[in-house]
Order: sequence, then C-alpha cells, then structure tokens
Amino acid sequence: MDKYPKLTKNMQTDILIVGGGLTGGSLFYQLRDDKRKVTLVERSTLGMGATGRSSAKITFLQENIYTKLANNFDEFIASLYYESQKLAIEKMKEIIKKEKIDCDFKASSSYLYTLIEDEVEDIKREKELLSSFKELVKEIDILPNGMKVKKGFYVNDTYVFHPLKYLNAIAKKGIKKDHEIYENTNVINVVKKDDLYYCYTKDAIITCKELVIATHYPNFLVPFLFPIKCYLEKSYILAKKEKDMKEFNAINISNPIYSIRYYNEFKLVVGASHNLCIKNNDTENVHELQQLANIKNPTYIWSNHDIMTLDDLPYIGVLKEHLYLATGYNTWGMTNATLASLVLYDLLNHQENRYSNLLSLQRGISKVKIIKYPLNIFSNVYSYMHSKINVRKKWYHDNPYFTKFDGKNVAIYKDKTGKEHIVYIKCPHLKCNLIFNRVEETWDCPCHGSRFTLDGKCIMGPSNYDISYKK
Ligand code: FES
Repeated sequence: MDKYPKLTKNMQTDILIVGGGLTGGSLFYQLRDDKRKVTLVERSTLGMGATGRSSAKITFLQENIYTKLANNFDEFIASLYYESQKLAIEKMKEIIKKEKIDCDFKASSSYLYTLIEDEVEDIKREKELLSSFKELVKEIDILPNGMKVKKGFYVNDTYVFHPLKYLNAIAKKGIKKDHEIYENTNVINVVKKDDLYYCYTKDAIITCKELVIATHYPNFLVPFLFPIKCYLEKSYILAKKEKDMKEFNAINISNPIYSIRYYNEFKLVVGASHNLCIKNNDTENVHELQQLANIKNPTYIWSNHDIMTLDDLPYIGVLKEHLYLATGYNTWGMTNATLASLVLYDLLNHQENRYSNLLSLQRGISKVKIIKYPLNIFSNVYSYMHSKINVRKKWYHDNPYFTKFDGKNVAIYKDKTGKEHIVYIKCPHLKCNLIFNRVEETWDCPCHGSRFTLDGKCIMGPSNYDISYKK
C-alpha cells in the first residue's frame, strides 16, 4: 500500500471524509474532479480496518436477502436493493477497466444452497424473487467442489478481487492539488459551530463544511442512537492452500452461515459468526469452524466485525445538515461501500439519488425493527454486565495474568519470546472489560468491537484511545 503523511497542523477543507476503508476511498475517488477541497483522514493506514479483513466477494447474491426484504417491507423494496447492488457491481467493473487496476479481479459464480430439508422452501423463494427481477438463475444439486446439497442455485456476473489492491489504486487516482489523504490521523471529537464542523485530532483541528463519517462504527453520533439501531457480528476466516483451484463462491442460508471463496491458490472459508455480545470465546469458535470446514492447520486465521442493521438495509445518507454517514452493510461491504460512494456523491452535489430513500438514516420503523429493538437493547445490556463478570478470565488460565497496578485492573501477557505486554483491561469507549483474543493476539471489546494490539494500541474503533499501561 502507498503511504500518506500524518496531519500535524490545523487545516481547512470543504469536504472531510473520516475513514479510509473502501467507503471513504471510493468516495474520495468519485470526488476526484470536484472543484472543492477534499480531504480524507484515516486513523491507521488505508484499508486496515474491515476492508482489509473482508473475504471480498462482489456479489448481489447475499444469503436470502431478497426474501428478508420482501418480508420486512415488500417486493418493490427487495427489487430496489437488488438493482442497487447490480449498479455497484457495474460501477466497480467500470472503474477497474477504466483505470486499468490490477487487483486480481475475477468472475466467480455465486451459489446459494442448503443442506437441510426445512430450508428448501426458502431457497425456492429466493430463486423466484431473483427470477422475477429478470436475473438468470440456474438450479443445482451439487457444488463445483463436489459437495451435494439439498437445494441450491447459482448466478453469474459476480466476482472476487483483492480489496487492498483496488483501494490503493482508487485512492491514488483521487490525489491531486487540494485533494489529499492523511494516515495515522485520528479524529477523536467533532464540534459544530455556526456552519462549520471542527474535527479534533491529537495534533490538529480540521475545519470543514461537509463532514462524511465512513468509519465502520460511527463513534461521534450520539443522537443517532447507533448501538440500539445496529449490532456487531463477528466472523472468522480460515485460509488454506488447495491444489485444485475453483472459480466459484458459495454461501448457505442456515444459521450459522458458512461461506466459501477461492483466492489464488487459497480456499477461504468464513463462518462461526455470532453477535459480538454473546458466544465470544474465539478459541472455541475457531475450533467449531475448523471442524465444520474440515480444515486442519489453516495457513491463516483472522476475524472481522460487521455492522448489522435490524431491517437488513444499510444506513447511507444525511444524518443532519452537512453531516453524512455510511455504515451497516450487513456483511456485504464491497458492493455497499461502492453504492455508498455513489449515493453520497449525489447528496454532496445536491442531486437526486434513486436509492437515497431506501437507505435513508431517517427511514421509519418496520415490523422487524419493532421485534428486534428490545432484543438489541437487551443484548447491549447483557454484554456490558457480562463483561464485568470475571468468568471470561477462566478461558486464559495463567496467560494473560490479571492483577492491579496503582488500583487499576491490568493484564500481563507473555508472548512466545517471553516478552511481557501490559495493558489496562477496560475499554476506553464505554468501560466494558476487554476479552483476550487468543487466536489473533489482540484485546477485543465485546460491547461495540474496539480492538487493541498486545501493547494496547487501538486498531479499531469506536474507542479513540489506547490501553497501553503507563508507569
Ligand atoms: Fe464500546 Fe468498548 S465499550 S467499544
């Protein structure tokens, strides 16, 4: 990835994009010919949050999303969402071709299947909906890797790629005079005064007229009541070399979701997904996925957090005057990040956008939301309370070791070389106790997904602060 400087002095800009993942990078690219001054800031380096951890499917076949939307809303809403995903795919194809981007972009048919008799009707319903949108859908009873299924189908015009290569290229194309990127520049507070937003980093104040929050978890937006409207889902990804490379990707509709894709000589499986608030013993979850996928000793293991909305539609749009937000992609971040850049581009230019009502932050209550709101509030409270109970410490035996220094709870972790790493174990965001992620050797917050390195550096928000122990 190309490197960009850290912002060290105050500046003014017309449009500030906070967050250098695929959403922020795509919008920065879309605005490349805008006459206004455009600045993108990223707390770490470009793509190092959810984008770089994605399994990177570019597909409109997203489990049984159209059935869910038809049930939650109606078939028109389902068709509009389908149309928006197709548009995002076309846009990505167009950009890759036009800018000659080398990002391992490949056609990969998408399969949806079930192994369970009870879900056969659900597969049929999803297939019928896609056919009613005039999509070409082909039935199968066996996947290209030889796995027999109870019922399934596939669609074409879907792809896989390397998201960091793509993001790196589009970010570079957006750079010019007055269109700048700053890395390692973390906005920790935002204040509105008169018609301007004042965005505070540790070293500088950025003043802007239009502010776009594209940070995955939007930390500054208290009035939007984000934790109540969304929840986080954690998934695990295993990668292992496979001799016989296949050009397809597949996902089931069962709970837990199990998804497969291929990248160069690697097979990637994604699964063991769970609400971040519950079932968060990473070692057990990875073990469960390894058994399901029948993969011993994977070459790579990592996890990702996805922001899930209660009605299965992303939140993309205007929060209040001159303040924009894009998040809640429900695990389908590649297409929805691109869609967000198109919608936000139009909103920033006071143009109509066909999908702005569909994705609006102010959209009304649906029947599914009424059922899920209380559950979501309960799981937030549960995770906070549960984080306070020391039961989780039992998972770690003697490493990490928990103690108190100067009256504050700390954890001491001894790595393979015997080096000790000391951190405070309270999350700086809202004070939940952190969990040690033994699989990736990070400290993770079970409440809203902040993550920290062994030495306490915050690598994922909403926390804006580190947890490094200071003597
Ligand atoms: Fe909110 Fe930790 S308490 S991320």
